[in-house]
Parts: sequence; structure tokens; C-alpha cells
Amino acid sequence: MPKIVFIDHLGTRYETEAPVGRNLMQVALDHGVPGILGDCGGACSCATCHGYIGEPWAAQLPERSATEVFMLEAVVDERPDSRLCCQIKVRPELEGLVVRLPAEQA
Ligand code: FES
Repeated sequence: MPKIVFIDHLGTRYETEAPVGRNLMQVALDHGVPGILGDCGGACSCATCHGYIGEPWAAQLPERSATEVFMLEAVVDERPDSRLCCQIKVRPELEGLVVRLPAEQA
């Protein structure tokens, strides 16, 4: 299982073993990572699974859908590397991926 790391805005690391096919929001909930709520269950309609995913992994992620772009416009601190974790499924190539969590979801 790929290792996925979540880091909160204070620098606390949460290292997880992520089953392939699960999305990053589900992985965070499975491991009790604070700051990822997943209120809509992964329907891309709440933006409570916002995280920042930079290089080198960003280039390996699927493009944002129009719905994800729309939802990200509603978050407090959108950045170029903002993603909704429910829209990204774990693949073996994402080993070591780091998701940084925004302060507003703490
Ligand atoms: S869980 Fe609601 S948008 Fe991701």
C-alpha cells in the first residue's frame, strides 16, 4: 500500500497506509486525520476535504474537473496547488504523496 502523508498547518505529520482505489479524503478519515471532514461523502459538493498537493505529485494527479474548480473557489485560502482530496484516488505511483492541510480546516 502506498504511504500518503498528511501535514497540518502546525507541521504535525500523519503517515498513512493508503489502499489503492480509496480516495485521499477516505484515507484521511480512515486514519483520523484532523482537518479533513468530508461532509458530502465525496460528492464534490462541500470542499471540507481541501488540501495542498505540490510537486512532484501534482503533475501526476488528474486534472481538476469543472465542479472541483467551482468548489475550490469557495474555500478561504485557495492556492495553485489546492485540491479536493475526495477527487484523487490512490495509485501506486503516488507513493509518498504529501497533502498539506489548510489552517481554516483545523
Ligand atoms: S468530501 Fe465534499 S468535496 Fe470532498
